Amino acid sequence: LQHFDVSGALLDWYDRHAREMPWRVGPAARAAGTRPDPYRVWLSEVMLQQTTVAAVRDYFHRFTTRWPTVAALAAAPDEAVMGEWAGLGYYARARNLLKCARAVSEEHGGQFPDSYEGLIALPGIGPYTAAAIAAIAFDRAETVLDGNVERVMARLHDVQEPLPGVKPVLKEHAAAITPAKRPGDHAQAMMDLGATICTPRSPACGICPLRPPCLARQRGTVADLPRKSPK
Ligand code: ADE
Repeated sequence: LQHFDVSGALLDWYDRHAREMPWRVGPAARAAGTRPDPYRVWLSEVMLQQTTVAAVRDYFHRFTTRWPTVAALAAAPDEAVMGEWAGLGYYARARNLLKCARAVSEEHGGQFPDSYEGLIALPGIGPYTAAAIAAIAFDRAETVLDGNVERVMARLHDVQEPLPGVKPVLKEHAAAITPAKRPGDHAQAMMDLGATICTPRSPACGICPLRPPCLARQRGTVADLPRKSPK
């Protein structure tokens, strides 16, 4: 594992297999260094905390068609936003969405702050979302740890201790491979790997770019990981 370039292998794989998503930029623009719109990254990350990528697509399209900028969303009546949110569930999140849009609009001149610290100070933005936006929209070397990334790290390092207690250890493993170059693509590559290859059941180890260094693969423990504390 020490001699394997995990992030390099992951980014090579991402360049070939990145999932197309409405809040991402395409391969050509990505190669040219174009960053995605922070507003779209923020909106997608908040929506994705509720529901799957497949379900979010339509909501995302309707929101961004009706409100193409954070300033437009900030100016929307509460009822209009709650109405478009209907079906996504957890309405506190929609209220926080509006609070955040208004804070960005009124206190930051309509520009999202470009650092973890600036982002986490906004209403409704927690550690996960702040790291995700900082990495994906601003290419900051923040470590983004969601359920997908936890699973990939648990398997890569054959971590036998259960979640949630072992989360800080998994975060350290993730931080150790967060690259200075292309941290935003790296974060999304980890999520895509967890969603399409290193899946909870029947992972596709045969085509995994991290197969060579994967300790769980070598030890036959992939199906057991990550372990979870009994509730
Ligand atoms: N899940 C949450 N955020 C995501 C992203 N940016 N890409 C893929 N899956 C995600």
